[in-house]
Amino acid sequence: MTSAVTITRHGGTGGRTAVAARARQVVKAYGSGETRVVALDHVDVDIARGQFTAIMGPSGSGKSTLMHCLAGLDTVTSGQIHLDDTEITGLKDKKLTQLRRDRVGFIFQAFNLLPTLSALENITLPMDIAGRKPDKGWLAQVVETVGLKDRLKHRPNQLSGGQQQRVAVARALAARPEIIFGDEPTGNLDSRAGAEVLGFLRRSVDELGQTIVMVTHDPVAASYADRVLYLADGRIVDEMFRPTADSVLDRMKDFDARGRTS
Ligand SMILES: Nc1ncnc2c1ncn2[C@@H]1O[C@H](COP(=O)(O)OP(=O)(O)O)[C@@H](O)[C@H]1O
Ligand SMILES: [Mg+2]
Repeated sequence: MTSAVTITRHGGTGGRTAVAARARQVVKAYGSGETRVVALDHVDVDIARGQFTAIMGPSGSGKSTLMHCLAGLDTVTSGQIHLDDTEITGLKDKKLTQLRRDRVGFIFQAFNLLPTLSALENITLPMDIAGRKPDKGWLAQVVETVGLKDRLKHRPNQLSGGQQQRVAVARALAARPEIIFGDEPTGNLDSRAGAEVLGFLRRSVDELGQTIVMVTHDPVAASYADRVLYLADGRIVDEMFRPTADSVLDRMKDFDARGRTS
């Protein structure tokens, strides 16, 4: 079923719901009693399909927790999370693992490539493990999009940091997930390599119709997104559409100023 899903270009919904992920009144608390920390405090959010969403906010504001809960990597204390029309809160482990494998892609700060495999082998590894055949046409398109055509036989240690992260982006895209989550995916890259990777993420949204949610603290990285969500103390306190690096930076200064006076 998953492989038959058509992803239309330019952010079309391909007949699926326009919301790729949805959180309703999500609370995530760690610990109990005196050491209880509320990382997410009744969060409501819709992640539009075919859009690039950035999540920003100070350290400890709940960005990673929100991403992990939306991706089914972590359980919630209360509230509901849907991926497309599947409620993932309450799914049993086995179903959840299956759903993550088939429908969700991840890009982490560390590239997490296997050193003994070529770039191409790394890209297809998750599908090989799942016993799924990559769609050749799609794979070619993904490789083209991330600009790795002449690097496919290289091992990770023969590639620059930026190229390695592009392999990780291609790996996430190759299985045609409904949504890709990235936690500071350019956090370990210099600004030029970071710009390259962000450019490819942007292209995957514009040209392949991918849905992406990216945690970042970098206004320049956020400017590649269609929408920026701001978290503070586990709540979504603001959002911005069509951000620029300057407008994001200004908004962050506003928050800092408010934080100092209140
Ligand atoms: N496994 C955990 N156990 C206890 N507290 C945690 C855990 N993970 C996160 N927290 C707390 O939850 C809050 C939000 O953390 P996190 O989502 O990592 O923030 P961010 O990604 O915005 O820096 C912080 O106060 C953090 O200390
Ligand atoms: Mg974090």
